[in-house]
Amino acid sequence: MNTCSLFSLLSLLLFSRAEALFVNALLNCMFTSTNDVVYLGQLFFNKVLWGEYNSTVGKYVGFTEKGRQIAKELNKNPSFLREEKKNLEKCKTHVPMAMEILSKAVEPSVRLRSFDATDSKHPRMLVCSVYDFYPKQINVRWLRNGKEVTSDVTSTEELPNGNWLYQTHSYLELTPRAGEKIACMVEHASFQKPKLYEWDPIWESDRTKIAVGTVVLLLGIVFFTAGLFCYKRNPNPLGHELVPTQPAS
Ligand SMILES: *[C@@H]1O[C@H](CO)[C@@H](O)[C@H](O)[C@H]1NC(C)=O
Repeated sequence: MNTCSLFSLLSLLLFSRAEALFVNALLNCMFTSTNDVVYLGQLFFNKVLWGEYNSTVGKYVGFTEKGRQIAKELNKNPSFLREEKKNLEKCKTHVPMAMEILSKAVEPSVRLRSFDATDSKHPRMLVCSVYDFYPKQINVRWLRNGKEVTSDVTSTEELPNGNWLYQTHSYLELTPRAGEKIACMVEHASFQKPKLYEWDPIWESDRTKIAVGTVVLLLGIVFFTAGLFCYKRNPNPLGHELVPTQPAS
């Protein structure tokens, strides 16, 4: 049976001064491959599982001496059992919601960059970065004039972002030739067909020039404005003392 634990809904901490007990309640919604939902409420004392409520069983079961005593009390308490039934209902509504999120493919954003390669027999290193996709399965390949390149390619694994989404990076070391077309091809469940991202070395170098030009221009404006401001504040910018002319006597 393929059982996945979906939620860890609650962690409770209780401290009693006398014994400094560490109580931990773990509420689990589990779903099975047959789409059954099982709710499991587990009670830990100092990290030891004392007992649990399993919705299939419908009552508390104790695993330790004290746990069995607690289970006996809880099973006599109708309001506790009602609460646990409610928790099962919550699981039944939450699991399909989570399943819906999980069944939706999320389209990646792709970025293609190049660097000067170091420690390589090739002068350039192209990086195809694929961000924020779901599910994990993805294919990132390199095409040179429409033909797949397999040598001098390295890829990272699909790295989890920690928010259901993944990212991956593929590296191609190459010696660019004039007129050729290099592309990164991404195949993913969120695409109808594979998507191509073409590397445009001219655009990339122009973009660098534009960036540098913009910085230089901004610096120029800043210095010009500062200069103008100082000039206005100090009517005698060259620093010569104006010696008042002696009144002719
Ligand atoms: C809940 O109880 C049922 C019936 O005894 C059992 O088959 C199942 O494995 C239990 N689930 C868990 C997670 O312990």
